[in-house]
Amino acid sequence: MKKKAFITGIAGQDGSYLAEHLLENNYEVYGIIRRNSITEHQRLRLNHLDNKITIEYGDLLDISSLENKIIKIKPDEIYNLAAQSHVRVSFDIPHFTVMNNAIGALNLFETVKNHSKNSKIYQASSSEMFGRCVDEDGYQREQTRFEPTSPYGCSKVFCFNLTKHYRIAYNLFAVNGILFNHESPRRGSNFVTSKVVKTAVRIKNKLDDKLVLGNLDSSRDWGHSKDYVKAMNLMMNHSKPDDFVVATGETRTVRKLCEYVFKKLDLDMDKYISQSEKFMRPEELKFLCGDSSKIKKELGWKPEYSFESMIDEMIEFWEKNHDKNVIEY
Ligand code: NAP
Ligand code: GDD
Repeated sequence: MKKKAFITGIAGQDGSYLAEHLLENNYEVYGIIRRNSITEHQRLRLNHLDNKITIEYGDLLDISSLENKIIKIKPDEIYNLAAQSHVRVSFDIPHFTVMNNAIGALNLFETVKNHSKNSKIYQASSSEMFGRCVDEDGYQREQTRFEPTSPYGCSKVFCFNLTKHYRIAYNLFAVNGILFNHESPRRGSNFVTSKVVKTAVRIKNKLDDKLVLGNLDSSRDWGHSKDYVKAMNLMMNHSKPDDFVVATGETRTVRKLCEYVFKKLDLDMDKYISQSEKFMRPEELKFLCGDSSKIKKELGWKPEYSFESMIDEMIEFWEKNHDKNVIEY
């Protein structure tokens, strides 16, 4: 019998790659999307999977929609990827971010506890939880303290703790994947990698003449979403529920990211890049660099992409799509 997977946030960057990965591994894939007034663009990342997956309307904040689906499907594996995932935006809409991410996850855990205790559950935890904390050797790992620096980060710490609590109190197979930043051609274009690549390609094609950014000195550990969804699935098929860091172990500043992209396109970045308060954050998470020794050793996870091959893929994608209203994934 095929295993059944249920994905919240299936139409997002990770949800769409995870759906592909699970289909390749012979799962039946189900997911929920929220109601949106523009239906045409909502399933863009999933259009190529039409007829292969089952999508229904549902919302983390509507517990009845979760109960109805989980009772009906009885999934073997539930991946909770749904979230207001933009850190900068979380300062503008803190109530919504915390309510959506934290109470949304609580609704899902309660649904599983009350109606489907054998469903395994994956929680999309984040390196944003580490905030101000870095170990003395310059890495963050499973033991590093959490000191989040944004409403988003605070909401994710709540969900992390909830996952551990439901694992211990109710014996659920509940796992936290503590994923560092991961990107791809499907990354929303208001996250920094996509914004830099897309705008640089438009500058090259004379459709834009400037790139306005916020903090250029913060450092991030950037991997590829395709590699990271494989890690999620490995965690769910481990012999016991546990928490794992997923990262590349390399870190670069936003400035270095810009240097790579502009050089690749043969552009002088100093002519085009400026900074604006608009893209700064009230508190910045300055430095991320993850130690993923645990998942490599215990689950044999290994990333296939390098930073360069990931950015090159994104440049190629935006070269084909920079002037389209409807993007083809
Ligand atoms: P994403 O592209 O923003 O996708 C998130 C998805 O969740 C969207 O499709 C969104 O739908 C949906 N969603 C939001 N609130 C919902 C709700 N109440 N009910 C149902 N669906 C809802 O994010 P991603 O990059 O794929 O990330 C996936 C998850 O991993 C997120 O939880 C994120 O916080 C976490 N994470 C991401 C990274 C990263 O670097 N990408 C790193 C660590 C952790 P709408 O389009 O309708 O808003
Ligand atoms: N988005 C954005 N836009 N970021 C900018 C800009 C800009 O114009 N200019 C500089 N930055 C800097 C941000 O201040 C931050 O230091 C860095 O670029 C990365 O920003 P994002 O790409 O927005 O990602 P993030 O690190 O805030 O959050 C992502 O990674 C988390 C994991 O660490 C998101 O995917 C979160 O959902 C995820 O949990």
